[in-house]
Amino acid sequence: MVLNKGIPFTEIIKSLPSTAPFVGPESLERRLGKNFKLRLGANESNFGMSSKAFEAIQKGIQEASWYGDPENYELRCCLAEIHNITPDEICVAGGIDDLLGLVVRVIVSKGTSVVTSLGGYPTFNYHVVGFSGRLSFVPYVEDRENLEGLLESALENDASLIFFSNPDNPMGTWHNSVDVQGFIDSIPLGKLLILDEAYYEFSPQGSVPPINTKNERVIRMRTFSKAHGMAGLRIGYAIANKKIISALNKIRLHFAVSRIAQIGALESLKDPKHVKNVVQKVNQGKQEYYILAKELNLNYISSGTNFVSFDLGTEERAKEILNKLQEQGVFVRMSTVPYLSRCIRITVGTESERKIFSKVFKRIYSKFQ
Ligand SMILES: Cc1ncc(COP(=O)(O)O)c(C=O)c1O
Repeated sequence: MVLNKGIPFTEIIKSLPSTAPFVGPESLERRLGKNFKLRLGANESNFGMSSKAFEAIQKGIQEASWYGDPENYELRCCLAEIHNITPDEICVAGGIDDLLGLVVRVIVSKGTSVVTSLGGYPTFNYHVVGFSGRLSFVPYVEDRENLEGLLESALENDASLIFFSNPDNPMGTWHNSVDVQGFIDSIPLGKLLILDEAYYEFSPQGSVPPINTKNERVIRMRTFSKAHGMAGLRIGYAIANKKIISALNKIRLHFAVSRIAQIGALESLKDPKHVKNVVQKVNQGKQEYYILAKELNLNYISSGTNFVSFDLGTEERAKEILNKLQEQGVFVRMSTVPYLSRCIRITVGTESERKIFSKVFKRIYSKFQ
């Protein structure tokens, strides 16, 4: 008798749900049967990339038939100089999302205890579950990730890996550098903290502790997706002690980062004026969103990122308004975690996008006042 055993999936794959951490705006467009006119939900940069990077990419496209440099050498050297560290303390990969997967893979196996915030960046959780780790969640306190709670939970659950984002997504809040440094220092040896700094360029003054690659208890992650305006190129980097970086090098895909992404990122680093300019424009945009919220008597959450969370009071209301915005061609996002789900978060768009958003939002919100 021939037994039909089916496809030999691993136990982990058999147990995983078919969900993705984020539904992309393109998927939503296909579902809705129309395109969005405002893309304000993924915290991309609507201010584009450096014109110098753009030119370099245009030129470099002729070399797209070649693989990129598997060592990302030039880029790591440039980053090392900027951060006053050595190139072997840097790992370049396809964005923070890719780096999160790599770190999880080098730390997490079946049942490894991992701690994160309830409602924190979901792609991290996606990787942990995919490697059969055991997640413990710590609720936000007053719309901020709870440092004391994260530490307590890490100790209580003997976690090997802890995730914390500063400033965070989805609320846009942050902790000051003294508290973050205190948190890093309190992580016992033998545990690893991921400090996700995707919004680092937008971070309020005094919220970024100095880099110390001697410390083996922390890995920091940064990206070209936000202020550098290169989300579609997929490139980011991690900074850590070289023991951690060499572990990542054992498993990363050495040709994962495209030649074009390498060219663009390198050129963008050489054009710091662009990022400065984007940060200024985003700050201006955030002020406008705050004014809009005040005008409507709506609570908002001060943001250290490139988006602002509007507090709509309840999840039902937030969902209803988000759906209405989508019907009107405006893509924004909200958390599904209770308490955080009373908010929608709106990426800072260009001046003209903000004008349209303000008009559409006022019209929709007036029916809820
Ligand atoms: C906290 C946080 N981490 C990481 C990312 C993704 O970064 P990347 O595009 O480099 O994968 C995002 C994007 O929204 C984010 O909000």
